[in-house]
Amino acid sequence: MARHDLIFRNATVIDGTGAPRFVADVAVDGDRIAAVGDLGAASADREILADDRVLAPGFIDAHTHDDRAVLCGPACMLCKMSQGVTTVVVGNCGISLSPVRMGRRPPPPLDLLGDESWWTFDSFGDYAQRLAADPAPVNTVALIGHMSLRVEAMGGDTQRAATDAEAEHMRRRLAEALAQGASGFSTGLYYPPNMEAPTEEVIAVAEALRAAGALYVTHMRDEANGVVTSIEETLRIGREAGAPVVISHHKCSMPENFGRSTETLPHLEAAARAQKVAYDVYPYAAGSTVLMPERLRADVPVQVTWSVPHPEMSGRMLEDIAREWNLTARAAAERLLPAGAIFFQMDEADVRRILAHPMAMIGSDGLPHDTYPHPRLWGTFPRVLGHYARDLGLFSLEAAVRKMTGHTAEVFGLEGRGVIRPGAYADLVLFDPATVRDAADFSAPTRPAEGIVETWVNGQAAFAAGAATAARAGRLVTRGQA
Ligand code: ZN
Ligand code: CU
Repeated sequence: MARHDLIFRNATVIDGTGAPRFVADVAVDGDRIAAVGDLGAASADREILADDRVLAPGFIDAHTHDDRAVLCGPACMLCKMSQGVTTVVVGNCGISLSPVRMGRRPPPPLDLLGDESWWTFDSFGDYAQRLAADPAPVNTVALIGHMSLRVEAMGGDTQRAATDAEAEHMRRRLAEALAQGASGFSTGLYYPPNMEAPTEEVIAVAEALRAAGALYVTHMRDEANGVVTSIEETLRIGREAGAPVVISHHKCSMPENFGRSTETLPHLEAAARAQKVAYDVYPYAAGSTVLMPERLRADVPVQVTWSVPHPEMSGRMLEDIAREWNLTARAAAERLLPAGAIFFQMDEADVRRILAHPMAMIGSDGLPHDTYPHPRLWGTFPRVLGHYARDLGLFSLEAAVRKMTGHTAEVFGLEGRGVIRPGAYADLVLFDPATVRDAADFSAPTRPAEGIVETWVNGQAAFAAGAATAARAGRLVTRGQA
């Protein structure tokens, strides 16, 4: 009689490929799925009667800023594991914790990851070594950020285009990081210090991607009036660097652009016939980033998420703070700096259209160090499963799971992840499809999700009975490594 470490009995399996659910037993040995089917003749050290609950591949958070959170132990990742997340992609929006050391507070938006005390990795290899010595509870896929490379290459003088020599330096640093296990290159061309980088600079750095088969991932220059031009710039960078592209948190920002996903999505579909394109999206009509007073608008409400001089204002609306201080919104924002905020700048119909498209991967874009974070940090995945798939019927549960598992693993080249089949890694989540829901919202942003029963990373329970376990089974995952 076969004996396994773990058997799920009578589970409703949603395997991550988009295929219809089926009922089966699933066995796990060590870090792998050993068998799927009728395992009535087998036994295990631990048997879980799954019955009406769904067993799915652990969710892959396609867009995070968890570079530092993965280094600070299981409690730091509870926000993700409590949603069923087993792998996070770090280093997005041009912001990565390596390869640059900081002597003083990093310029925004790099400070989203913390003050200078966290910026101690001269190379991606040093960062990878720290992850190996002190493992995270979830798997990590790493991108290298353009802004981090720029600060290092340009000696902090970043309000201009890089010289050819500086771009070449960045290209070499990126190539070195890719050889040490990073999976791609991210940009945040929207942000003031990086706006100065012309397309040619980005192409010159991205040239390192070609030989490695690595990805180009971008928070585009413009997600508002210029969204289509920015998509074209992104596609061109991908073509010239010979790299697949991922558009980060796709959106059509600002009221005058509401509805334009009917324009951007067909554009992306047409491009996908000629080159590799995907995008990530979070299931909310509000974004969150650093507070930039010069970009405030009267028609976009703003909620403060953190402020260094005024931490007590976290969670409050900027409008109310300004009234209390007898200042304009802009002057109040200046007084709060450095600070972060939530911006209610999207249209719900666009959010739904972008989520529903088969090209979509789910990425939280959660900001784990904010005092009063956007609810996407604690709610993204259960919100897609509960609110959008089950309650609104926007797509099937199988399609929802594919957007957070199999499709994402395929885009990032994560072999043996994002699927349930014999031989795949045992990254798994058991959830109740009738009750799964996000509980975090804009007035209670860290309330844990409901209906997630247990989460396993490489065969080890990482989240069980409503809490993080002590396991640290996460690994650095590299493209194409099985
Ligand atoms: Zn971004
Ligand atoms: Cu981001």
